[in-house]
Amino acid sequence: LVFLFGTMCMTMVRYAQTAAALAPEPRMKKFQVYRWDPDKPGDKPRMQTYEVDLNNCGPMVLDALIKIKNEIDPTLTFRRSCREGICGSCAMNINGNNTLACLNKISTNTSKPTKIYPLPHMYVVKDLVPDMSNFYAQYKSIEPYLKKKDETQEGKKPYFQSVEDRQKLDGLYECILCACCSTSCPSYWWNGDKYLGPAVLMQAYRWMIDSRDEFTEERLSKLQDPFSVYRCHTIMNCTKTCPKGLNPGKAIAEIKKMMATYKEKKAAAS
Ligand code: SF4
Ligand code: SF4
Ligand code: FES
Repeated sequence: LVFLFGTMCMTMVRYAQTAAALAPEPRMKKFQVYRWDPDKPGDKPRMQTYEVDLNNCGPMVLDALIKIKNEIDPTLTFRRSCREGICGSCAMNINGNNTLACLNKISTNTSKPTKIYPLPHMYVVKDLVPDMSNFYAQYKSIEPYLKKKDETQEGKKPYFQSVEDRQKLDGLYECILCACCSTSCPSYWWNGDKYLGPAVLMQAYRWMIDSRDEFTEERLSKLQDPFSVYRCHTIMNCTKTCPKGLNPGKAIAEIKKMMATYKEKKAAAS
């Protein structure tokens, strides 16, 4: 019995030694995260550093944030839902770029920290959570839904669309309203109260060119002021940053063309 027990112990020790020898070296990565809690009297915005072993973490920045919240600091606050680039709620500024944390791979260079801030030039609710109220109010203002002159037929018959007309909406309908583009736009930073910004304008355009919608002229006329559209100076930060690979800068250029035609038509009619 003593012999058997001894053999078992030796085997266990050897197994533990082999497992220890096979265990990979920890790959500690620093994450510097913007923190601010308005509910704490006197709290000032600051950067807080967390260390995460990349061997025990998923590949995306959102995985690291979830790990930090679950295992290191439950007070860290950020938005997320789908974890697959569909809901748009995890938009934030990572290493200087507005992007979705769930689609952004953690850089495996452990000598450099990953820096994470909320979306720029927005009021902050807490930590990485920006206040989206103005953005959503602007979205509501463009009436982002199908509008018909005769509403009595609503729900009674389908509104058909040709394959070609449907294709015109490709590259527009995929927008998830994450606001990465709008908050990367210098014009939106300075005039966000009056300029609608690339995300909302791209959706305005999406409804203007929908073959089933009957309010194109009214939609164009609503934007005829110096700020709503014309604050876009074609800097194209918006298109560069879009994590879904869309082109809001082009959509705004198309609106400007439609507005010029609309103005000419109006002038000729008067
Ligand atoms: S256009 Fe792109 S960046 Fe802008 S809100 Fe839509 S998905 Fe986000
Ligand atoms: S193209 Fe227009 S909307 Fe896009 S970043 Fe430039 S100014 Fe802003
Ligand atoms: S969690 Fe939904 S887009 Fe990132």
